Parts: sequence; C-alpha cells; structure tokens
Amino acid sequence: MPQAVSGLAPAGASLAVRQDFPILGRRLGGKPLIYLDSAATSQKPNAVIDAVADYMRHHNANVHRGVYPLAAESDAAYEGARTRIAAFTGSQAPQWTTVFTRNVTEAINLVAASWGRANIGPGDAVLITEMEHHANVVPWQMLCTERGAELRYLAIDEHGQLSLEALQDELDRGDVKLVSFTHVSNVLGTINPVADITQRIRTAGAISFVDGAQAVPHMPVDVATLGADFYGWTGHKAVGPTGIGVLHGRTDVMEAMQPFMTGGDMIASVDLFSATWNELPYKFEAGTPAIAEAVGLGAAVDYLSAVGMERVRDHERALTGYMLTRLAEIPGLTVVGPQDAGARSGLAAFTIDGMHPHDIAELAGRAGVCIRAGHHCAQPLMRRLGLAATARASVGIYTEAWEIDALIDALVAGRAVFED
Ligand SMILES: Cc1ncc(COP(=O)(O)O)c(C=O)c1O
Repeated sequence: MPQAVSGLAPAGASLAVRQDFPILGRRLGGKPLIYLDSAATSQKPNAVIDAVADYMRHHNANVHRGVYPLAAESDAAYEGARTRIAAFTGSQAPQWTTVFTRNVTEAINLVAASWGRANIGPGDAVLITEMEHHANVVPWQMLCTERGAELRYLAIDEHGQLSLEALQDELDRGDVKLVSFTHVSNVLGTINPVADITQRIRTAGAISFVDGAQAVPHMPVDVATLGADFYGWTGHKAVGPTGIGVLHGRTDVMEAMQPFMTGGDMIASVDLFSATWNELPYKFEAGTPAIAEAVGLGAAVDYLSAVGMERVRDHERALTGYMLTRLAEIPGLTVVGPQDAGARSGLAAFTIDGMHPHDIAELAGRAGVCIRAGHHCAQPLMRRLGLAATARASVGIYTEAWEIDALIDALVAGRAVFED
C-alpha cells in the first residue's frame, strides 16, 4: 500500500478492509486507483461479488412461483436477504415492512404515487428541504402539480443546516401532510437530526419520508428509533450491487396504500376486469424482482455488520476531520456545509477560486484520484448556494488517510497548472 504522500495521517485511519475490495488493487495509467467518489457509488467487496456469483451459479430460479427444491433455495436466498436487511436497519416485521425497489429513487416515487395520490389534494402541502437530491424533489413536484397541492421548502441556514423552529412554523400552518427530507446531504454532508424532525412531524399529524441514501452506508441506522413513517435507501452506495434499493415503511400505513406498479406476483387474484392485491411486501413488488441483486445486498449488510457500523462512522468521522484540515491548506478553496466533522458525513464538496470544478476533477483524475464534479443532482441547492457546480471528494469504508494526502497533492499540482 502506498505511504502517505505528504502530511501526517491521523492515527488508526484505516479499517484494514482494502484487501476485501478487488478493484482497489487496480492501477490506472500506472498509478494506484484512489477512489474518492463513494457518495456516487461504493466499491464492492469480494463477499458481495461472490454472493451474487454463487447465487447465479448454484441457486438461480424465479421466486415465489416454483415448488421444486431449487426454487425453494432461491426463495430462501431472496427472503433471507430481506430479513437480514430489515434487521440491519432496525425495521423488522410486523411493525415494519421492507420492500425491494430498484433504488431509493424508486422508493420515493412509490410513496409519492401510492400514498401521495390517495392522501394529497387541493389545500394540502408537501414540505421538502433546500438540500434535497433531485430524487427527493421531482416526484413531489409531480405529485403536487397533479393533485393541486402546494410544494414548500424548508430553508437551510448559512452553515448548511435546517432549523427545527422553521420546521415547527411550517407544521403549525396546519396544511402539511407529508415531509420528505434527507438523512444526510450529498452536497453539504449535513447529518440531519432525524428523530427530532420526525417527532415534530408525527405530533403535527403528518407523514415523514427519510431519504437514507447517504446515511445507511456510513453510520448505524435504526429506522424504528428514528421514527420515520418511511425510510428509503439504495444498495449500490452501501457496498451492494446496483439495481436494488429498499423501502422500509410502517406496515399499518403501507397496508392502506394502493399498489405502485401492477402485474405478476403483486396480485392475489385476477378476474377479467378486476384484481385483488397480494399481501405486504409483495403488493409492492410487481414482476420478477432483482433476485441476485437482493442476495448481493444481503451479503453487503452482513459485511457491513461484521465490520461494525459504529466503527465505520468513527473511521469516517476521523477521515472527514482530516480531509477538512488538509483541504484548508489549499489557498482559495472553500468547502460548503458544516465545518465541524462531527456534524457531517464523509464528503466534502468544494470550490477553488479561479478553477472550474470540472477542471479540478479532470486534473485530479490524471493523478489517479477519482472525485466528482457537477451539480450532484441538487440544482435547487446549488442555486441556493450561488454555485453552478462544485468538486466533491467522498470517502467510504475502505478509504485511508494516504488517499486524502494524494488528493491534496493532486489539488496543489492542479492549482499550479492554472497559475502557470
Ligand atoms: C441523498 C441522495 N438521495 C438520492 C439519491 C439517488 O440514489 P439512486 O440514484 O441510487 O436512486 C442519491 C444519489 O446520489 C443521493 O445522494
């Protein structure tokens, strides 16, 4: 493993898991791969790759249909993954229902369509925040337009944080039926006080949806304790495969909801002109699901559990503090969001005076450092910040301090190119 290129790495800033991630052994252009784009998607450990391959090699059959032993194995693999995923996030049956979706985007669309169409109408309001990913903006825009309801935004303050008082003022208006907000911002890194927020929403008689895409991979998440009515997240950011996401919902709320998509597997019976619905969670899983991907996500949560999510959070908090300290060494560099590593997750979106974010990312890429540049699917937030784009470095379970050093070296060298 490369040594720190410059600066002092924080003690213990490694979970010693890199050997589990085969892609991290790659070299690109003769340089070690330094992957600082885990907020976009995470890399995958052998445990996940092997679980998917093993399922396809040895257990593949459709689920919920066959009576032969191979089909029973496939059912057990798929449903076993669901049970372990629910336990991982503290959302066990019967109080909670765990539905497999394609990603968190689909989980939000499911609730907007199924709960929203039945419960939102003229005179009602849906409240979201200025820090949302487009996935948690556009479905609510569509719903409010369709239903003649109002979409309102909770503002962020100058530190990139939400105000509970402002939330209370919104709820006191009496027309908010649903509040949807992110657990962790993918641009600001802000960790929102979810339990405090959901308690106020519940007291106001409204429903809450929490977008956990940037939280579940990075910290312990217990959906029951957080108190949301719905909590969605996405497998590919949590060392799992693409094509698989999760919606945890309160069973009593989901029982009353109409299906999102219709077709095979989600029905109890079909007549020529009518149909009745299967029980939860199958009512929300139309068609053949992403079986191998669900199995892979089951292996991902087993892997994360074995490492320990408290350790993951401690590690990433230390790395984030280190990253913020080192980024501050670069003249003209500004990090958006809370400046305190304890208040944020393991990502830093930043600008450098005189350099376009895409040039920053391009020059970093030439040094083998993968960072993202753009609006990060959060254009309303970027406009609120007065920015068109930022660069963004983000850490994962496998990130080590020397990679932050390599980023800093790449940024220093990149800046020098622009000064020449
Ligand atoms: C906070 C947040 N919400 C939602 C999403 C959308 O995730 P997916 O594309 O997997 O549905 C992302 C992805 O970047 C995200 O960061």
